[in-house]
Amino acid sequence: MTSAPRVCVIGWPIAQSRSPMIHGHWLTRHGLSGSYDKRAVRPEELADFVAEMRAGAFAGCNVTVPHKEAIMPLLDEITPTARAIGAVNTVWREGDRLIGGNTDAEGFLANLDDLAPGWDAAPLRAVILGAGGASRALAFGLRERGAETITVVNRSVGRAEALAAEIGTPVTAAGWDEVPRLLGTATLLVNATSLGMTGKGPLEVDLGPLQPGALVSDIVYAPLRTGLLEDAAARGLRTAEGLGMLLHQALPGFAHWFGVRPEVTAELRALVEADITGAGGR
Ligand code: ATR
Repeated sequence: MTSAPRVCVIGWPIAQSRSPMIHGHWLTRHGLSGSYDKRAVRPEELADFVAEMRAGAFAGCNVTVPHKEAIMPLLDEITPTARAIGAVNTVWREGDRLIGGNTDAEGFLANLDDLAPGWDAAPLRAVILGAGGASRALAFGLRERGAETITVVNRSVGRAEALAAEIGTPVTAAGWDEVPRLLGTATLLVNATSLGMTGKGPLEVDLGPLQPGALVSDIVYAPLRTGLLEDAAARGLRTAEGLGMLLHQALPGFAHWFGVRPEVTAELRALVEADITGAGGR
C-alpha cells in the first residue's frame, strides 16, 4: 500500500454522492495525503473496476446503487454483518484480499446514540416503515442492540415478511393498517421508505398514538428535517435526523483506508447541511 491511499465511491449515477465531501473533510482535518473521488461505474463495468482495485489502483471504495449486491460475488470475503444485511457499502483490503462490509446498521445506531442518548433503554420496541435495503440494515442493527420487538411495516407486506424471515426473531411484519396499534407501544419509530424525500410523495402517519418518550427518526436527509420529524417535534417527541446516519456510516471505511478514526463533528454536519440546503434540499 502506498502512503497516499486512493479511495472512491462507485455508483451509477454517482454525481449526487456526498461521500467525497465527507471524506475530503476528514482527510484535510487529519492532514492526510490520500484521496477520495467519485467514480461513475456502469453495471457492465463493475467487474473491471474490481479488477483494477485488486491490482492496486484503489485501497478500497464505497459502493452505492446499483452495485451493493452485485459486488458481493466479486470480493474475497463478506463480513457476517454485510452477509446478514445482504449488501456491501464499504470495501477495504486486508493483505491481498478484498473485504466487503456494510456500515449502515452501525451508522444508524451511532447516530441515535449521538443525538438521543439513552434511546435504547429497555424495553426497546421499534417500528420500521419500509422493507427495502435500508430497512434491512436497520432491522439487523436493532436486533443486535437487543430490541424486544421490531416490526417492519410495508405497503407490500410480502416484502416485510421476507425481511422478517431473513433477519429472524424478534423481527415481525405488518401492514400499514396496523400502524396506529403498533405506535401505542413503540419506543422508536423510523422511516426507511423513500417517502418524505424531496421530489417524492409525503409520508402520512398519525403520530398521535406514540407515547411521550418515544423517539422518531428518518433515514431521509434531504430535506434535512422531513415532515415526519417536524410533526414529531411539534408534538414534543424526541427526533433524530437522517443526516447523522450518512455521516456515521462513512466513519468505519475511513478508518480502514486511512488508519485514523475520525469524528462526526458539528463542523462536518454544518458543511454537509449547507450543501443539501444549497442544492434546494436534494
Ligand atoms: P432502499 O433500498 O433504499 O430502502 P427501496 O428498496 O426502493 O429502497 O425501498 C423503498 C421503500 O419505500 C419500500 O419499502 C417501498 O414499499 P414497497 O416495498 O411496498 O414498494 C416504500 N415506498 C416507496 N414508495 C411508497 C409509497 N408511495 N407508499 C408506501 N411505501 C412506499
